[in-house]
Amino acid sequence: MRIDAITTFPDMYGSVMGESMMKRAQEKGILDFHAHDLRAWAEGVHRKTDDYPYGGGCGLVMMCDPIFKATEEVLGLPAGSLPASKDELDAQEVKVVFMAPQGAVFDDATALRLSRVDRLVFVCGHYEGIDERAYCLADEIISIGDYVLTGGELASMVVIDAVVRKLPGVLGAEGGAASESFADGLLEYPQYTRPASYRGMEVPEVLLSGHHANISAWRHQQSLERTQALRPDLLE
Ligand code: ADE
Repeated sequence: MRIDAITTFPDMYGSVMGESMMKRAQEKGILDFHAHDLRAWAEGVHRKTDDYPYGGGCGLVMMCDPIFKATEEVLGLPAGSLPASKDELDAQEVKVVFMAPQGAVFDDATALRLSRVDRLVFVCGHYEGIDERAYCLADEIISIGDYVLTGGELASMVVIDAVVRKLPGVLGAEGGAASESFADGLLEYPQYTRPASYRGMEVPEVLLSGHHANISAWRHQQSLERTQALRPDLLE
């Protein structure tokens, strides 16, 4: 899968995409990731990407022009062709995702759906928002929750992490992603590792029994009880 991020803060991606599973996914050739500095498509000596809002108000609004030009170039479309060429894009396995608090709230089903696309392009807003006309480029607008971040970069990294770990071959153990929280609509069962006894707290007997059917039944029951206790909304 190829993922591009269009951002005024490309360096923010370095630590997250350069460590752990995200790094391994790239090393294994499963993920091809690029962060692009939006300023490269901005005009003038100051390479401004934002301007004052029409109608007044505080803060600055991100301008359409750099976002359109960046999206065209990143997707290999002729300069000036968007939004008219958007239909051609829709025929390809590419999704343009805008990160914004007014988007649909991100969840596991969305992560799975996005993991089946060949290419994702994230557009990350900052300041007081993005010129509304830029949203015509979006296939999806995604929020990671009902709170406002200073920018879409962190939010996009949350989405990228959740999507990439679903790609075949990224997680070490086969089926790792299939048995975890949300995959079956339930929270994951409790996990334990050595030692079996720690500061007076014991690992449940059944997990030491080696009896796979009993372990499986216990885990399912724990998933149900935990979901009922912590996230009853998931059972509705
Ligand atoms: N940008 C600012 N806040 C955000 C949020 N909650 N989700 C996605 N992008 C954002």
